[in-house]
Amino acid sequence: LPDLVLGLLLSEWDSKKEKPRYKALYSHIRQLILSGVLDGGCQMPPSRLLAERLNLSRNTVMQALDMLQGDGFLISRQGAGVFVNDNFQKPEFISTHAPEDIDLQVPTVSKRAEKWLVLAQDRHVGKNTQAFAPGRTALDEFPFDKWARLLSRRWRLSGKKLAMVEDAMGYLPLRAHLADHLSSTRGVRCHGDQIMIVSGAQQGLDVISRVLWEGGDRIVVEDPSFDGIAGVIEGAGAQLQPVPIDQDGIMLETLEDGHDVKSFIVTPSRNYPMGVTMSLQRRIELLRRARSLGAWVVEDDFDCDFRFDGPPLTSLQSLDQDGRVIYIGTFSRIVFPALRLGFLVLPEKLVPAFCAAKSFIDGHASILHQAALADFMEEGAFTSHLRRMKKMYAQRRSFLTQKIEEMFHDTLEIVPADGGLHLCVFFKQHFNDVVFCVILADHGVTARPLSLYYRTKNKRYGLVLGFAGYHEKEMLDALHKIKKIIHS
Ligand SMILES: Cc1ncc(COP(=O)(O)O)c(C=O)c1O
Repeated sequence: LPDLVLGLLLSEWDSKKEKPRYKALYSHIRQLILSGVLDGGCQMPPSRLLAERLNLSRNTVMQALDMLQGDGFLISRQGAGVFVNDNFQKPEFISTHAPEDIDLQVPTVSKRAEKWLVLAQDRHVGKNTQAFAPGRTALDEFPFDKWARLLSRRWRLSGKKLAMVEDAMGYLPLRAHLADHLSSTRGVRCHGDQIMIVSGAQQGLDVISRVLWEGGDRIVVEDPSFDGIAGVIEGAGAQLQPVPIDQDGIMLETLEDGHDVKSFIVTPSRNYPMGVTMSLQRRIELLRRARSLGAWVVEDDFDCDFRFDGPPLTSLQSLDQDGRVIYIGTFSRIVFPALRLGFLVLPEKLVPAFCAAKSFIDGHASILHQAALADFMEEGAFTSHLRRMKKMYAQRRSFLTQKIEEMFHDTLEIVPADGGLHLCVFFKQHFNDVVFCVILADHGVTARPLSLYYRTKNKRYGLVLGFAGYHEKEMLDALHKIKKIIHS
């Protein structure tokens, strides 16, 4: 009988199917047992013989057999050898048929995930590291050496302590630095206890949706707006109510039946992607309207740090008398995008509910990077890097503006904006911008189609062109490619 077992083991044995080899052998024997080819009670050939015939080292065979014993597929009987365990019922769902031949009744994904799949379809056409992908910052300019020193120093000095920090709100010294920074740059009124550190502004939006909304709630968003906001609203099963913007920001007068609005999500400093700043009159009107509806106002200040024309603007939060504005910010733009750290400034009464929710969502964001970031702020490196980048980004923006005006005066119209790390351009003739961006990607250029940021039929067509992370030559090469495509 062991000879028969050996024959079965040798048939269809392919050591290259999986790496490392002991795993390949483990999977092979396991499949033979589960599919009933090797019956319960069969004796396994000695490991030495198996190693020889399968052309494997004895160690490899022993490792595989140990794993199979550990999982309960094989059992060892003292003095008698190793046998296929006959003490479990063979699952009828495993057969020797290829999975595609079986009618699998696998459950489907949720409706929410189906909507996410649709939204994600055209989201990231083209590489996110090449001109003009909007998410990239000037990584060559970031003081990574300093960052590495701060990380290792923090770990050396207080690694043990940090390893046990447990605070759903985040690392307190970082929150204290942030409170100072936000008060001096954005007029935000808060103290560190109201600040929650999250994994980027995107998670901030998600936590808000879980704490404040019920399924079916109506959430007003600007049209156009960042698609990550739409994704969160879909995820919460809430209803997205798009409201158009003009040069003064959100046009609330177009919101007819606003009685059941649960939240307004706005980007008062700079609409993303159009770059419009909300006027003071509209800010006051929004807070008045929110008060009359008993609604929350979410101020997504993602794009606030780089204003080139004029002094910094104060936040909507600073005008709020009711404690109804939740302020969202991020470090993605000033530090680097993959850091995945952002923050919420919460009205005091919301702190306990947010804290409880965060503890169930992911506990808290990784503490070591928060601690290094607190040191980065403490040493003044954050502010000086921000100042330096502001200058550089202003130069990059004016280079791009000038080149677009020179090279595309008959085809593209630049949308005016006083800051931000990207430019929007409208097509003067009609092009399908989604298709256009796919063609650009094939030619090694990345741009985002403007129409994808709209949620209503009143779309504008054009391109969103990030400039922050690209040298002049790189931008110029990409512009030449765009020109060639437009005229082809
Ligand atoms: C308006 C807006 N909010 C939030 C985010 C997400 O930012 P983060 O990288 O901090 O998650 C983005 C990203 O582009 C954005 O444009």
